[in-house]
Amino acid sequence: MSEIVAGRGVALVTGGSRGIGAAAAVELARDGWNVGISYRTRADEAKRVVDACTELGRRAFAVQADVAEADDVEGLFDGVTAELGAIGAVINNAGIVSPSGRVDQYDVARLERVFRINSIGAFLVAGAAVRRMSTAHGGSGGVIVNVSSRASVLGSAGEYVDYASSKAAVDALTVGLANEVAKEGIRVLGIRPGLIETDIHEPGRLDRIGTTPPLGRPGTAHEVAALITFLASDRSSYMTGSTIDVAGGR
Ligand SMILES: NC(=O)c1ccc[n+]([C@@H]2O[C@H](COP(=O)([O-])OP(=O)(O)OC[C@H]3O[C@@H](n4cnc5c(N)ncnc54)[C@H](OP(=O)(O)O)[C@@H]3O)[C@@H](O)[C@H]2O)c1
Repeated sequence: MSEIVAGRGVALVTGGSRGIGAAAAVELARDGWNVGISYRTRADEAKRVVDACTELGRRAFAVQADVAEADDVEGLFDGVTAELGAIGAVINNAGIVSPSGRVDQYDVARLERVFRINSIGAFLVAGAAVRRMSTAHGGSGGVIVNVSSRASVLGSAGEYVDYASSKAAVDALTVGLANEVAKEGIRVLGIRPGLIETDIHEPGRLDRIGTTPPLGRPGTAHEVAALITFLASDRSSYMTGSTIDVAGGR
């Protein structure tokens, strides 16, 4: 019987400079991981996250990398491995939304941007993770946590059906990849956050619909980070292929 391997070694969080990724990086550090994060543009905010992880007694490192660029993704994994050691958990988190609009208003540039970052980016990061962690590639195993969205199920009519669809691709990636690598020491899990208080939302959106989830409020990045940290750890050792909602009942 092959063994699922997980442990508190090095965790890599894409989009770790702000929002859910930043909260996850700090929670992972609190849970014993050394943490590598990527950011796209906000070096100052990435440094603050690195400092917060370091203050918890862990080693941490930030790399500028666009997840939509294969060379950047390879550089990210190589940079974190060189600085911190072999990666055991990858939080596939970086993502964007599009401006609000109906499907009949979308142009090709908009569609290419959202699918390129949210779907292709997630595949590039997952592939790089497997090439390093899979026992079939000489690795020691690990965990991949894909950050999807509740939008992938709800569809986001009138707002961003393209974003919702790009996250549906992430849901399928979680199931398919989990089956591909289950016997190679890698567990693949997904999460679907609902309305979470971060800067990703258009101004006023959370004020407008933040109380609509059954729990009556938006969630915090910390509440999502708690789930990510659990899934990255061996406390979830008999889970793979699942995507968990963290959406206040939405
Ligand atoms: N907040 C929500 O309500 C919610 C709900 C469901 C799902 N999600 C998902 O959760 C994830 C994180 O969202 P968030 O709310 O934390 O967003 P956020 O506050 O806007 O943070 C996004 C993070 O991703 C990075 N990023 C953006 N584009 C990138 C790219 N092309 N390459 C590399 N990094 C990139 C940003 O880097 P810089 O700081 O350098 O710009 C930042 O660190 C996303 O996948 C999002 O779709 C969020």
